[in-house]
Amino acid sequence: METVVAAVSNNKLSRARGFSTASIRPLSTIVSTSPKRLQTNMTEFDRVLGGGFVAGQVVLLAGEPGIGKSTLLTMIAKKLDDLKIIYVCGEESMEQIKVRADRMGYKADNLYMLNDTDVDNVVASVPGVVAAGLIIVDSVQTMTSTDLMGMAGSVGQVKGCSQKLTMLAKSLGVPMIIVGHVTKDGTVAGPKVLEHIVDTVLYLEGDAQHMFRLLKTTKNRFGPVSEVGIFEMQDDGMIEVTNPSTLFLNNSENITSGSCTGVIMEGYRPLLFEVQALSVKTNFGYPKRTTSGFNTNRLTVLIAILEKRCGLNLGSYDVYLNIAGGLKVSEHACDLAVCLALVSSIKDIPLDKHMVGFGEVGLGGELRKVSFGDKRTTEAKRLGYTKVISPDTAKSLYDAINIALRADVKA
Ligand code: TYD
Ligand code: MG
Repeated sequence: METVVAAVSNNKLSRARGFSTASIRPLSTIVSTSPKRLQTNMTEFDRVLGGGFVAGQVVLLAGEPGIGKSTLLTMIAKKLDDLKIIYVCGEESMEQIKVRADRMGYKADNLYMLNDTDVDNVVASVPGVVAAGLIIVDSVQTMTSTDLMGMAGSVGQVKGCSQKLTMLAKSLGVPMIIVGHVTKDGTVAGPKVLEHIVDTVLYLEGDAQHMFRLLKTTKNRFGPVSEVGIFEMQDDGMIEVTNPSTLFLNNSENITSGSCTGVIMEGYRPLLFEVQALSVKTNFGYPKRTTSGFNTNRLTVLIAILEKRCGLNLGSYDVYLNIAGGLKVSEHACDLAVCLALVSSIKDIPLDKHMVGFGEVGLGGELRKVSFGDKRTTEAKRLGYTKVISPDTAKSLYDAINIALRADVKA
């Protein structure tokens, strides 16, 4: 039954987009035009869209429950206050949304609420309500259609409802944002099942204990992927962070041993972060390795390289590693900063406050080049880091440690 509905929907969708299956034309006769874009005036959000919304664009905003999706959408509505926006709220009552808007100091004169979970009602009523400039559906997991089998949130319902909503956006030529919850246990259909239906997929990520949020593009028919927008969840809404590198750094004058600054790339943007290592003599035969924000297996590899290639003895130390600010780093470009933090802790020598290190550490102890080396260096220098240790300035991990500690580490 679901398949039949999907087939009909696809046909309608093709017609709505103005395609005709019978007309075959040489591509060279098609004139390409760059689409007009609706900008939200939130630089970080426009960036992930590739410059703003395109008419009829369907954007899936995915993220874990409670991460701030509805807050971000309310923020966008606030920024676009000269545009009429339809907000389909299947998840929360109108009162709850009003409380959120009040909290964010937003009068919401431009927001038109539709409290309905029946997608067919939404499709029927939206065109008649108001000439909207943007439609928001929060969330797809609450939407149902009597044409489809299954409960709200099931794969069939989520897919079918998204297709109906997509057709609505395309036929009206109005951009639409559909919220989709990412679920860990997999009992409810997550955004993965509808990524192919929508034009753009944005993931809102972050750590519930920390305030910063990353908005990442994983698919975009109208712009580049791998773009990242950075926001901070504050008491009065989701605020964009225009100078993100300063977000994760320790601004205090006193730098203790075991701390090193590194640079990662979030999409095309360099981001400075702080690694903290703590090494203490182990009380047991088997030393402990505990990490937060970094892969424990990678730490074990780096420790083995430090032992074999740099002559350090870490076998009798427990090692704790933390990436400050709740950031999770997985790039191999972080290897050097992790190693330097570790050596600094073992030797109990604080590193230069104005020093930054990045580069991949190979099993032979060599320092390997990483992508966007120039961008990383430029960002570090922009923020006042005068000493950049990278594969351009040091050939091996051993060299890098010597430069960082200004002393021979082989004791
Ligand atoms: P919400 O946007 O409701 O999350 P989602 O739609 O992704 O489920 O945000 C939930 C949390 O955000 C909630 O714990 C309260 C907090 N919050 C703020 O910190 N600042 C704010 O301005 C708002 C509106 C919410
Ligand atoms: Mg919500």
